[in-house]
Amino acid sequence: MKVMAFNGSPRKKKWNTVTLLENALKGAASMGAETELIQLYDMKYSGCISCFTCKKLSRKKDGVCSVKDDLTSVLERVRNADALIIGTPVYYGAESAATRAFIERLCFPYSKYSIDSSLFPRNISTALIYTMNVNEEMVKMSAYDRHFEITRMSIEKTFGGCELLLSTDTLQYKDYDKYEHEMFDKDAKIKRHKEVFPLDCERAFELGSKIASKQIIG
Ligand SMILES: Cc1cc2nc3c(=O)[nH]c(=O)nc-3n(C[C@H](O)[C@H](O)[C@H](O)COP(=O)(O)O)c2cc1C
Repeated sequence: MKVMAFNGSPRKKKWNTVTLLENALKGAASMGAETELIQLYDMKYSGCISCFTCKKLSRKKDGVCSVKDDLTSVLERVRNADALIIGTPVYYGAESAATRAFIERLCFPYSKYSIDSSLFPRNISTALIYTMNVNEEMVKMSAYDRHFEITRMSIEKTFGGCELLLSTDTLQYKDYDKYEHEMFDKDAKIKRHKEVFPLDCERAFELGSKIASKQIIG
């Protein structure tokens, strides 16, 4: 069982998204999975360029993105993965730009304009982890949840069952006194990071172990 995780935050160490991904991978490893964490912000790549080479009737192979950049070898490895976990901070109500570009390149080559809608050869487990400043109530009020669900469904349609984990009201700054933060209650943020974020990490661990224990349907 090979589990690949993707960090869509430019903050690559110790911050919210990567910490949750590391916990998810620890959970997967506890079930015996081989794990890999890929930092999307270490790579140079674009989103889908709409060339439609992957949709050509004369294509030699299904599910191959013809764009050649740093994502090429990663997408090749995805073909042999048994589970994918994508983590992203919320930027303007959606995924970070690097995550969005990655998802386009990841899913579109396998998307098929027909009823059996995926060219990915197997059903694998997937998960999306979102971290964000807003609280749970605002997720609904600002309709973030609708966006998350659309992305979740796109991934599920392409690869197989996709779980969603939300970590809300996250810590944005280590020292709130050094940055603008009128909207945030600094003490409440620090308290939540101490008390609730560890529970989010536990949920991420459980998510990783659940994903790694799933039977792959061929
Ligand atoms: C460019 C930018 C845009 C953001 N937009 C939002 C937003 O629309 N909603 C929100 O709740 N948080 C927003 N945030 C906050 C991040 O989602 C939040 O701090 C996240 O947990 C950061 O993840 P990280 O610590 O892994 O980098 C934004 C942060 C940045 C840098």
